[in-house]
Amino acid sequence: MTQESFRDDLLWRAVGAEALRQESHLELIASENHTSCEVMAAMGSCLTDKYAEGYPGRRYYGGCEHVDDVENLCRERAKDLFGASHTNVQPHSGTQANVAALMALIQGGDRVLAMSLDHGGHLSHGHPKNFSGLFYDFHAYGVERETERIELERVRELALELRPKLLMAGASAYSRTIDFEGLASIAREVGAHFMVDMAHIAGLVAAGVHPSPVEHADVTTMTTHKTLRGPRGGLILCTKEWIKKINSAVFPGGQGGPFMHAIAAKAVALREANSASYREYAGKVVANASALAATLADRGLRIVSGGTDNHLMLVDVTPLGLTGADAEEQLGAVCITCNKNLIPYDEQPPMKASGIRIGTAAVTTRGLGTVEMERMGGLIAEVLGARGDGAVLESVRKAVGELSEAFPIRPAVAGV
Ligand SMILES: Cc1ncc(COP(=O)(O)O)c(C=O)c1O
Repeated sequence: MTQESFRDDLLWRAVGAEALRQESHLELIASENHTSCEVMAAMGSCLTDKYAEGYPGRRYYGGCEHVDDVENLCRERAKDLFGASHTNVQPHSGTQANVAALMALIQGGDRVLAMSLDHGGHLSHGHPKNFSGLFYDFHAYGVERETERIELERVRELALELRPKLLMAGASAYSRTIDFEGLASIAREVGAHFMVDMAHIAGLVAAGVHPSPVEHADVTTMTTHKTLRGPRGGLILCTKEWIKKINSAVFPGGQGGPFMHAIAAKAVALREANSASYREYAGKVVANASALAATLADRGLRIVSGGTDNHLMLVDVTPLGLTGADAEEQLGAVCITCNKNLIPYDEQPPMKASGIRIGTAAVTTRGLGTVEMERMGGLIAEVLGARGDGAVLESVRKAVGELSEAFPIRPAVAGV
């Protein structure tokens, strides 16, 4: 069945418009990517229709023999790719994975020490309106004012003072390598469990371009849709000690029936990520981020912490007299998509923010390389310095259009 033959005209008009938007814009949102045709096919497969509460071999529904094969395949691929002994592939999202991890590791009201949300942590790491902040006693470590990096000695001091039951690592907007081994040793020293949320960097870890937390953490959670380039979803890795608790925290603790179509698509992405071409891709993502950060810095923009080791960077736009919200809007007007973001010690509220977050996972999937990053960095600097000059915006929009056309998404993801 082709899209043209669908009857839900209104709906497909919107979906078609989104496809065009994606093709015509350069996607710099650090948490997004473009998935392969096979990931998309698995998501749209007949597995959408199947109920399978429970786990392979122990389901609450009949007819699960084939979805058992799918889930087992996904589990084996996850363990193999990340070198983990146990996994749960059912979490519907990264947040759901974190719900399960916290339920398994600690009790309500227990103390947790995690990365500050204002310095790059995620909502599910203790935001007062999120389940995490509502049901647990979250405290935060952040980055140092001068270096804008996590300094282990400071985390250690806090851990010794607060004596948390759980030390958490991982972030949504931190551009530097995280020392998981060092953090794990702090957790051990204070008698805390150690959990890592590697949502953003899962693909880099899979490819070996960021150190892996798996051997150091009791439980590692991730999303499958960011650098890992799979379907929207979550996944948990853990040691033998925790798997029973993790499984019952996912189902029946926090979820009902698994999304078998999403699990199939995760299996596809995990196979794709276990290849030489994916490892080459992940290396290019990091090289592209470095090249883009260097170009922006050369053009006078301030990169938080002075650069990046991974797929993303935070750009402080206040020296240009802009807020992050202004910058997001101005770049959006020339078909470059990114998001406003707090920078460490920001004085603006989150809806304005002083920075933008930029990531290279999606444009690298399209095939853009370091030469194009230098071009794009120049274009971004031009727009942000243009003070609304229509002629500048028009010429940048044209240049972005030429880049998008030269690197179409569909042929790129067909070749993954
Ligand atoms: C570090 C981190 N953890 C968890 C999540 C949550 O993922 P989801 O949006 O799938 O719930 C995100 C999403 O951006 C994230 O950055």
